[in-house]
Amino acid sequence: MEFRVAGFRDMGQVSDVADRVFRSARPGHMADEFPHLYDGQNARHWWIAEEAGHIVSIVGAMVWTAVLGGAPVVVASVGSVATDADFRRHGISTRLLLLAESCLRDEGVRLLLISGDGPLYLRFGARPVGWVEWYALPKTFVAGGSFEIKAIDPVVDAVEVARLYRSRGTRFLRPLPLLQGLLRAQSFTAVSQGVKVAFCAYERGRAVSYASVNHRPGLGRRPSQLAEWAGDPNGVLYGLTHLSDWPESGMTVPVLPEDQGLRGALSSLEPARQTPFPWLAKVVDGVGLGRDLEAVWAESTGDPPQIKAQSVDRYRVTRGVDAWELDAAALTQMVFGYDVPERPASMNDVWPSPAPWPAGLHFI
Ligand SMILES: CC(C)(COP(=O)(O)OP(=O)(O)OC[C@H]1O[C@@H](n2cnc3c(N)ncnc32)[C@H](O)[C@@H]1OP(=O)(O)O)[C@@H](O)C(=O)NCCC(=O)NCCS
Repeated sequence: MEFRVAGFRDMGQVSDVADRVFRSARPGHMADEFPHLYDGQNARHWWIAEEAGHIVSIVGAMVWTAVLGGAPVVVASVGSVATDADFRRHGISTRLLLLAESCLRDEGVRLLLISGDGPLYLRFGARPVGWVEWYALPKTFVAGGSFEIKAIDPVVDAVEVARLYRSRGTRFLRPLPLLQGLLRAQSFTAVSQGVKVAFCAYERGRAVSYASVNHRPGLGRRPSQLAEWAGDPNGVLYGLTHLSDWPESGMTVPVLPEDQGLRGALSSLEPARQTPFPWLAKVVDGVGLGRDLEAVWAESTGDPPQIKAQSVDRYRVTRGVDAWELDAAALTQMVFGYDVPERPASMNDVWPSPAPWPAGLHFI
């Protein structure tokens, strides 16, 4: 069996493996649903295992810059991890993940954001991060203020959406064409089977917030969910409660620790549950991550931590007289965990939020 980075010409077979594993029981093609991830131009961010000329296992990634607490950090969203049924439980995915990690580290990636939470990833050293309060929004909820709600036009509104989006301290850097691609995939039209909805809220003719929703009324079982938003939280809540086809299974609104405004706007409700993000993360270059964060620390603390590598995947973190020796999994929790023993309370002031949204790693 050969383990290697994919090339442009492998992408047809890569899509076939993904469809065999992820779309055997439902219609559609993975490559259509995630066009940027499966684009031939992104072939170098796929790792494949090949047996007698046939690809039998794949790991895919999108590499981009996230702004974490104000600092640009190169991250990789990792997903479409799949092995053909006949080849499972031979350690193939584990080997591909390690190969992907080493290539991505060489490319300057500091952090992997991994779609999934299985034992495969935990053994690999990925860990739950972040903290989300999940609110069940009643249709009768009355948001403060009154707004005009309009479907987002991907071309006309993209600049306004980008302006609102930039107000978030933690976000992915999204060139305008990429944002337009995202918006095009989120029509505000007829909702049948789990589509995305995107809207802007206007006050006195000016866009004050936007939101996109994973909207699944047709599926009936799972509630719709606020996917991403920025701007005035009241405009977001107003838009959600005015969706024309309110889902029977309800609407879930995730709130992150830094979303003080949204939490305040929802203060008449209690969160239904609190969890880490529904995906995992792994720091793959702790020293590089520390360097990226230096500029932010310079503005926020006179006593920044230092991260030194002791060997691959082993780090020594010091701050003042305190010192910690950690592997990559524990470092990931120290930096991006919330309310976990690996993160001493004294570090809460220096580590950023791991991602802007609890769900969706922007594979599109
Ligand atoms: C999840 C998936 C990608 C794993 O692929 P794989 O190539 O079998 O992965 P590995 O062999 O490295 O590890 C799988 C298991 O086999 C075990 N294993 C590895 N080598 C083994 C060996 N020689 N003998 C017996 N078991 C072995 C591993 O310990 C692991 O155990 P786990 O059940 O605790 O996770 C594959 O099962 C799959 O495609 N599933 C459907 C799609 C999916 O769920 N993808 C993940 C999306 S989040």
